[in-house]
Amino acid sequence: MTGKQKKIYLETYGCQMNVADSELINGILNREGYASTDNIAEADVILVNTCSVREHAEQRIYGRLGEFKSIKKRNPGVIVGLLGCMGERLRSRLRQENSKGVGECVDIIVGPDEYRKLPTLIQDAWHGERGIAVQLSRVETYDDITPLRTNGISAWISIMRGCDKFCSFCVVPFTRGRERSRPLKGIVAETVSLAEKGYREITLLGQNVNSYRDGEMSFPGLLKAVADVDPQIRIRFTTSHPQDMSDGLIDIIAATPNVCKYIHLPVQSGSDRILSLMNRNYDTNHYKKVIGKIAERIPGVCLSTDIISGFPSETEEDHLRTISLMEEIRFDGAFMFKYSARGNTAAYAMKDDVPGEIKTERISQIIKLQNKISREINESLIGRQFFVLAEGVSKKSPRQWHGRTDGNKMVIFDEGNYRAGDYVRTKITRVNSATLFGSPPVPSDHHNGGADS
Ligand code: 5AD
Ligand code: SF4
Repeated sequence: MTGKQKKIYLETYGCQMNVADSELINGILNREGYASTDNIAEADVILVNTCSVREHAEQRIYGRLGEFKSIKKRNPGVIVGLLGCMGERLRSRLRQENSKGVGECVDIIVGPDEYRKLPTLIQDAWHGERGIAVQLSRVETYDDITPLRTNGISAWISIMRGCDKFCSFCVVPFTRGRERSRPLKGIVAETVSLAEKGYREITLLGQNVNSYRDGEMSFPGLLKAVADVDPQIRIRFTTSHPQDMSDGLIDIIAATPNVCKYIHLPVQSGSDRILSLMNRNYDTNHYKKVIGKIAERIPGVCLSTDIISGFPSETEEDHLRTISLMEEIRFDGAFMFKYSARGNTAAYAMKDDVPGEIKTERISQIIKLQNKISREINESLIGRQFFVLAEGVSKKSPRQWHGRTDGNKMVIFDEGNYRAGDYVRTKITRVNSATLFGSPPVPSDHHNGGADS
């Protein structure tokens, strides 16, 4: 059996890296003649690209595997594949479970560095073989694979894979392996091809983009090279690590109009004692200094962060330090998580001793405070105008459009005579903590998206 006419249904969980990986997976399979489908009922192959970063993510995926199992009962010819971090992390357990439970329906398990083997593994599965490919690589960057993208405006490019930081809570160095950078040449060539196809926004992705290296070239050089391809394309990047946020990088962001003035800089905790236990390699003093430099050199910059609440041994005092750091920095947004113990990590050996109800109480305080700060910051933007990259019709209300500002804020604005991919000038009329509402947009020409007015 060949890939011809066979339909693949691929479901994606987790971070933006996984979203980008799913486009690579579709690219690999498309090349072999497989077609993608959004309709699971007509799929010949069901793939799930998984996330292991928190227990909750894995629980949801186990739930989905249960549903795939009943699909397979009705239609035993369907192949089910478990891809990504969870496949890597739980390979032996899933293999044991293959004889019973939810693992029973899994025909193939493929880790993040083995997606090239997918076509062969699927073929073998049709001949009754259960395949597993979970080797991690020091070199694989899928440099020559063209991702199959569905959004025609905004694209991801993975510039690196893996992570060598070994933050004590994090499973990523174990599931995605050693850090490696994709060669600059391929990244720039892909940017040129996206520009020719009319893309308007590119996000450079890596677990730690500031450790990007290709020979003499470091991340600021890559960022500049990508931004120079087409000044009409907005460039974003994520994630940055506070330890490596260099002056050179801050200067490039400040000086390059089409590099978005938006930085996601995970702080994780406001307590130096906890940061040290987390093996983050910086303290709050360093973090605040970096933020100070960013704010000074990039006026109007938008900042977001990640926070973990309830790390082992976290006291009320540690928690209050996180609260006061948030009050001091006033992030535009934050991704906030309860600590979740992950096997293999250094923190797994520490006692997960913050009781569940205290974690819940602390995280809800943190979320409440962040919502208040986000709303206050957004309220201060009422009456101002922003260039918004129009992405399409709003899901919630069809007479409205949605798009993002340079600072990555979502704007809902009235429909008008524009197309997806236009930069539309919008005046902000009302806000909540998550969204700006703009009306009425004044017609405007294409704009490089750099400066708001
Ligand atoms: N528990 C809770 N949150 C975690 N993150 C990573 N590992 C864990 C964990 N074990 C969060 C961090 C990271 C983000 C991607 O996910 O905040 O920055
Ligand atoms: Fe995980 Fe830390 Fe690497 Fe981010 S930098 S992926 S949190 S180990």
